[in-house]
Amino acid sequence: MHKTCFITRRRALWLGLGALVTAGDLTRDMAKCLSQKIQDMDGQERDFKVARGASLKERAAAKGLIYGAASRYDDLSSNAEFADRFVEECGLLVPEWEFKWSAGNKLLRPTPDSFNFTAADWMAKFARNHNLLLQGQTLVWHESLPPWFEDTVNRKNAEQLLVKHIETVAGSYTGQMHSWAVVNEAIKLSDRRSDGLRKTPWLEFLGPDYIELAFRVAASADPQALLFYNDFGLDYDTPADEAKRTAVLRLLERLKSRGTPVHALGLQAHLSGDESRFNARKLRNFLHDVASLGLKILVTELDVTDKNLPENTGVRDRIVAAAYEDYLSAVLDEPAAIGVLTWGLSDRYTWLSEFAPRADGAPVRSLPLDAELKRKLAWNALARAFDRAPVRDAHLKVKEHKSDNKSDFFV
Ligand code: G3I
Repeated sequence: MHKTCFITRRRALWLGLGALVTAGDLTRDMAKCLSQKIQDMDGQERDFKVARGASLKERAAAKGLIYGAASRYDDLSSNAEFADRFVEECGLLVPEWEFKWSAGNKLLRPTPDSFNFTAADWMAKFARNHNLLLQGQTLVWHESLPPWFEDTVNRKNAEQLLVKHIETVAGSYTGQMHSWAVVNEAIKLSDRRSDGLRKTPWLEFLGPDYIELAFRVAASADPQALLFYNDFGLDYDTPADEAKRTAVLRLLERLKSRGTPVHALGLQAHLSGDESRFNARKLRNFLHDVASLGLKILVTELDVTDKNLPENTGVRDRIVAAAYEDYLSAVLDEPAAIGVLTWGLSDRYTWLSEFAPRADGAPVRSLPLDAELKRKLAWNALARAFDRAPVRDAHLKVKEHKSDNKSDFFV
């Protein structure tokens, strides 16, 4: 946490923000908040220096952690330089859409009775060939469902369709996956249920037990994979995020108390560069509570939107880097945190270009590598967070995280 909100005009100028205020591109309040992020405790500019040139996966591995990223078949298969950089920096690959029921016009399950693993197989082979761990996203979600879903699925057939899906998809990669996002984004407090669950077709057709069912079927289809519950909106010191943390904790407690084979919580961590309500202590407390349930923690979709940040690249990069470093310093303090995955590696390929574009039309700069695949300050921030992370105990690298004791996994 930063100490003070005070910023003199001279300091604002020095930080490169003053000119933006003068030009009317930035309110004075915003300049204060942003300037806090890029100063250290002594009021000096944070430099994000890193000691040496090792890759992110090497720095993470040195601490017993994983670093990986999401990517798409389209990008990895069409850009050899990008694929090289991906393999250089990452120890784990998350196919961004290839293991989903569908994405746009791409269908993993084109009809209720057929599956098309062409893209998923390509990604699995890429991971195998390059010695990358592989993570599947996502077996149960209310989004990215195929066009036939709405007219086909009902109370009578929902369980059979869901079980068949998990058995077929997870079962096709048994032993190949490091981890599976089994259930994604099942909490939505504004749906106003007492259990906090989101109103989805799965909930409507199967009731709240669909979550437990999904984990049990996934565990039996792939006993070696780390199975996690994945959600967003858990990061900040806001009433909404606080309430969501509580609801997620309740859900995980419920699942664990019933012996459900859930092994970890995935924190999506889609952060905002202009958000100042970050409280490391509250986040740590939450992670500690999650870990107390015997669960591991994985940052699964980390990125920092620069949508509302100043256009100036130098300022923007420093604010984005600060958000990465502050967040990861808190998370990696928790011994149960086993890894960090960013939602993309390079600014050239990020969902944020489409989903959170900048009003000024400038290309987004949210990820560790820039659009030319060069390391930028966000990369330094990740490197510094790994370098400073406590070493994980060697025993965390094997077996014993599981309460169901069915099998092993590796971190
Ligand atoms: O298949 C079509 C392609 O034919 C077409 O040319 C193209 C035009 O835009 O769209 C393609 O489909 C897109 C697909 O990604 C593959 O690129 C879909 O429209 C688009 O909706 C889909 O978006 C993905 C989204 O999940 C929905 O599956 C994003 O790439 C992916 O980053 C995003 O990831 C989610 C996580 O799974 C869960 N957490 C939030 C995160 C961000 O939304």
